[in-house]
Amino acid sequence: MRTDTLLGLQRSPYEVIHRDELLFQVVHQSSELWLKLATAELTETAVQTDAGELSVAETLLARATLALRLITDQLDMLTRISPMDFQAMQPAFGNGSGAESPGWRQVQAASRRLGRAFDGQLAHHGVPAAKLYPVDLSDPLHRLAEAMVEWDERVSLWRVRHYQVALRVGSHPPATTPGSPTTMLAKLAGHRFFPELWQARICSPVHENGTAAP
Ligand code: HEM
Repeated sequence: MRTDTLLGLQRSPYEVIHRDELLFQVVHQSSELWLKLATAELTETAVQTDAGELSVAETLLARATLALRLITDQLDMLTRISPMDFQAMQPAFGNGSGAESPGWRQVQAASRRLGRAFDGQLAHHGVPAAKLYPVDLSDPLHRLAEAMVEWDERVSLWRVRHYQVALRVGSHPPATTPGSPTTMLAKLAGHRFFPELWQARICSPVHENGTAAP
């Protein structure tokens, strides 16, 4: 399992300039590991979607979505660092920007790849995205669409939580100044990889008795 190598990747108590560095590194490094898994599952989801294996794709996408939930929950651990302690250990981590996170960059590329694969399936089945809803859960195409909406929502939930952590621990002012880091974070929380699916859900006509309109 190469755990020796893994456990050697954190600065030792003799190297740290602040004792909370270990907490920060554990959250950051484990987030990258889960994102690595999420990227692998997402990439395979796209491959399976291209191949028309939509139920397999849905199953794999659920794994990626669960990985995102886990890294969202572990952001809570960062709130145990005080803003003063966080500032004190900043020199240990240099000027690295969060946007440089390899895991997040790859997750974004893999999400776009999945979007293209799904569009290919819509074209293959002759179903425009706008006609995908109301959902028919016996149809693998519809179930995959719902799994993609859930993935999109999970990305957004991570971003919302991360934004709050940046305010609380990073002592960044709220998103009021145009172009500020927190304005960018707040805006990103509204980003969707699959906006046409969200749009189709909103517009989907439903009868008063809850059944789909013709
Ligand atoms: C106390 C901890 C943290 C603080 C105060 C913080 C703060 C920030 C700030 C101010 C930004 C916007 C400016 C920039 O790009 O640097 C940012 C962006 C970002 N950070 Fe963090 N961050 C923290 C922890 C983390 C962790 C654990 C991750 C996990 C990989 C992470 C990933 C990112 C990503 C991916 C972005 C780009 C924006 C996005 O895609 O939503 N950050 N962070």
